[in-house]
Amino acid sequence: MKIFFNQVQLTGIFFLCFLTFQIGFSQEAKPANHESDIESILKQLTLEEKVALCHAQSKFSTKGVARLGIPEIWMSDGPHGVRAEISWDDWAYAGWTNDSITAFPALTCLAATFNPDLSSQFGFSLGEEARYRKKDVLLGPGVNIYRTPLNGRNFEYMGEDPFLASTMVVPYIKGVQKNGVAACVKHFALNNQEHWRDVINVEVSDRALHEIYLPAFKAAVQEAGVWAIMGAYNQFRGQYTTHHELLTKKILKQDWKFDGVVISDWSSAHNTDEAAINGLDLEMGTGTDGLGYTTENHYDHYYLASPFLKKLKSGEIPEAVVDDKVRRILRLMYRTNLNPNKPLGRMNNKEHHDVARKVATEGMVLLKNEDNFFPIRDDKNLSIAVIGENATRSMTAGGGSSELKPKFEISPLEGLKARYKNASILHTMGYHSGPSEYNRVHPSNLDADSLKHAAIQLAKKADIVLFVGGLNKSHLQDCEGDDRQQYGLPFGQEALINDISKVNKNVGFILVSGNAIDMPWLNEVKAILQTWYLGSMAGQAIADVVSGDVNPSGKLPFSFPVKLNDNGAHAFGERSYPGDGVNQYYKEDILVGYRWHDTKKIKPLYAFGYGMSYTNFELSNISTDKKSYAKNDTITISCDVKNVGDFEGAEVVQVYVGKPKSKIDRPLKELKGFSKVKLDKGSAKTVLVEVPIDKLKYYDPSISDWNFESGSYEIYVGNASNAIFKKIKVTID
Ligand code: BGC
Repeated sequence: MKIFFNQVQLTGIFFLCFLTFQIGFSQEAKPANHESDIESILKQLTLEEKVALCHAQSKFSTKGVARLGIPEIWMSDGPHGVRAEISWDDWAYAGWTNDSITAFPALTCLAATFNPDLSSQFGFSLGEEARYRKKDVLLGPGVNIYRTPLNGRNFEYMGEDPFLASTMVVPYIKGVQKNGVAACVKHFALNNQEHWRDVINVEVSDRALHEIYLPAFKAAVQEAGVWAIMGAYNQFRGQYTTHHELLTKKILKQDWKFDGVVISDWSSAHNTDEAAINGLDLEMGTGTDGLGYTTENHYDHYYLASPFLKKLKSGEIPEAVVDDKVRRILRLMYRTNLNPNKPLGRMNNKEHHDVARKVATEGMVLLKNEDNFFPIRDDKNLSIAVIGENATRSMTAGGGSSELKPKFEISPLEGLKARYKNASILHTMGYHSGPSEYNRVHPSNLDADSLKHAAIQLAKKADIVLFVGGLNKSHLQDCEGDDRQQYGLPFGQEALINDISKVNKNVGFILVSGNAIDMPWLNEVKAILQTWYLGSMAGQAIADVVSGDVNPSGKLPFSFPVKLNDNGAHAFGERSYPGDGVNQYYKEDILVGYRWHDTKKIKPLYAFGYGMSYTNFELSNISTDKKSYAKNDTITISCDVKNVGDFEGAEVVQVYVGKPKSKIDRPLKELKGFSKVKLDKGSAKTVLVEVPIDKLKYYDPSISDWNFESGSYEIYVGNASNAIFKKIKVTID
């Protein structure tokens, strides 16, 4: 179909494009240097005003200094969408009608794209929505390392590998901050489980701390220049992480030279002296000793409020301490709400929906595809039974602080129905996840047996079953506040899948989760598509991939162990996970995720970096530019990738490096570079991946610094951590 425009329409279109370009893309908020302004403001502030800048005035804002025109700071969750407005003084939603947003996919999905450019688009779009909602600080992204599949909050993070998380988080942060909105990377540090998160004391070695748990935060600070960082709830070596002498004062502020603001997690501050001295700048969410509910103006009782003022006045804490905090807070303001060049932002526009859909389709991981089950053609003789609660359940509601109020959320069922015009789509729930808040009061009429019976009947008469199940965002599932209690699928799904497979041999599983799960039913299904939590465009994105409009190219950002004890954190029993309620010891040390599977030779069910495609790729001519290198060199790995199948598609070339015969304990290999390449069918490209030798250092506790071991190294090149096509030995002097 041809579309013609007249002159007036064309002028209008050009103007709109121009405006969109101006507002949306060109006006980046590049803050100027304001250090001398900051000093002159500091001179005008009273001690009371300085202290008032260092703590909350409401659930999500801090006081400004009205007499000087210094604005309030407004914050919002979170990592994959701007949260709805919360009441001033409690956790209830404020009931605004202008705060519905675009829900982007959760960060496991973003990490699974292995596409830093998409991460930049994600961050930029999200930042635009935050700017439009007048937020100065966006409380995300989260980069806590995926240590155990039980962590209720893994879906908010970027997987188990520090290199992948670092590579993906940097463009996200830069994208957000182009809008004059501070990203607040969280939760610093070692918040790797939700169970007992408020109290648990983590004991972990210096090497694991620096090599596994800190690199993504370090990249956020040093490569992305993040403007804020959030402390964590847990303790580390006997001290709360939010005001930790080693973590915040020494590593973050002295060693990494972080010049932004350390914000507490909501109620993670515990002590005025430590908060003051060890570098907490802004205290949020504290409900000290119940004062949060009983005292009229409880914000005055925060550790960095009246108790801090008192100690400053008496001289017990020097004024320089508060000055440093205020400088940082004012610097954040000049980067955000005091930046006259900040763009206008925008929200719920087509471009954001497109980014959400693109990330969703690129992040889905095809785990199994027997007999080319996917893609499913739209044939008028075909009947598809869509079975499972997750086919219709909202996945943007729940999950804790990352919960969203999207303007719309297309469910998998809606997406499939919209895409399949010829095939018949039939649906039944199959199982239910227990009483909702409503059903607690009004007894549920959802009887598990009759739901199952209906599912079996439907499966019998359909050609194909698409089982849409997995976890959800309820408490004890993929949700903040506690961990999952089982590795297997909940709500009777395992038995249901087995029963369905007895009456229909064509079962494909659309697995909605942010975590690995046990798959004792693996042989009963022909295909598995790991779809994460996809946000507003979930259903359309799922239909894109199921139908073959988009060829999946996501790769797992974490390993799926066969059984829970095959995971390093679980291999040492409760002392290691979840601890005894007081302490826990990260006994697997640096061997997190695939590092454990590889080194201990424990085969995973699905490996880190794994993901199938509807087409096939050949990786060939794999070589390094040299055979021996000096310490300051960069190793360039070259690999030809050819699309030898029938679909356009994308492949991720992954480069891992190991050091055989090392003088220290090391994982067999570690991801040190990757590159995603998109190829038409039949076409080929040469992919280059660079690995700076500096990145091959290990953390040496004997010198409290990074160190390099010369000798021979092994370069592994493949398209998954367990699919290596070539090993190359190189020598580094
Ligand atoms: C979460 C943070 C979140 C904060 C504010 C806390 O419970 O741990 O990630 O940003 O609440 O909602």
